[in-house]
Amino acid sequence: MLEKVEKMYEEVVKSLKNSMSLDNLEELRVKYLSRKGEILQLFSLMKEADVSIKKELGQKLNELKDTAFNLLNERKEELSLSNEKTIDLTLPARKPVAGKVHPIQRVLEDLKVIFGKMGFTIASGPEIETEYYIFDALNMPEWHPARKVTDSIYVSTKDQILLRTETSSVQVRTMEKGQPPFRIVAPGRVYRNEKENATHTAMFTQCEGLYVDKNVSFNDLKGTLLEFFRALYGENTHVRFRPHFFPFTEPSAEVDVTCFKCGGKGCSLCKHSGWIELGGCGMVNPKVLEGVGIDSEVYTGFAFGLGIERVTMLRYGISDIRDLYENDLRFLEQF
Ligand code: DAH
Repeated sequence: MLEKVEKMYEEVVKSLKNSMSLDNLEELRVKYLSRKGEILQLFSLMKEADVSIKKELGQKLNELKDTAFNLLNERKEELSLSNEKTIDLTLPARKPVAGKVHPIQRVLEDLKVIFGKMGFTIASGPEIETEYYIFDALNMPEWHPARKVTDSIYVSTKDQILLRTETSSVQVRTMEKGQPPFRIVAPGRVYRNEKENATHTAMFTQCEGLYVDKNVSFNDLKGTLLEFFRALYGENTHVRFRPHFFPFTEPSAEVDVTCFKCGGKGCSLCKHSGWIELGGCGMVNPKVLEGVGIDSEVYTGFAFGLGIERVTMLRYGISDIRDLYENDLRFLEQF
């Protein structure tokens, strides 16, 4: 009899301690401690017990009942406390966090739409390129500083493989695929071995443009870029072309846009010139056309390369290019 009580003691302690939910605890209470429960039933043993063990049996039964009650209450408290920790119904609901499009991506999306309306399709090329597509096919001389490891980021100097320094390589990749007409824009990342500051980062974004057909003139180039910048910045925007040198275009120019801040009057942002430089452009050099098997007597073309960070900074009035890449939500949420 005593053993029976001891056995029950062990069983009850174990199952109460291991109980993991309030529901289960209630089941155990009914099973052991209700009026018809197993523990109270055991008290009937008293009647049949031999006098010699009656006293001990009585003590053991009481001990069993008390321990079970105490453990039940203890466990109940623990479980309801931990329940409170996980579900606090008084907490306000979490606001849904909506993502936003990064300012550079916004500009690129608008750019694709604007050039798309003018008949340009989107082209792309690899970011890891060979010297052939970056330099040779673009008429870059052997001695050009961009070919040095100090200026560019090489993957292998032996195999002449580097991270592309400009999207102009996509011009060549596009033209070698077929015959004119070509009318593409190619946005993408480019890389230079650059010390970072407020206006330079080692990785940045360019958008190349290329239009090759019969009778394409510098006038078409000017009209196309003017149309693009007016669509992006507003009707009062003006564009200026300053003569410059690029090996892959002839003649070449740098393209400036009216300063958004002062409207062209001159301010600290545009260094009092009224203009902000956003890229390079020109008429595709006949050597580049001939290099990909296009008859430069029949076809002409224009090309341009825009610095998309600068275009973005000008659009939103951002003064430090690094803000675009620090992923600070306080900055990014403003757009
Ligand atoms: N590739 C030039 C650069 O990264 C930009 C450029 C200038 C692209 C003139 C062109 C162009 O297509 O015609 O500085």
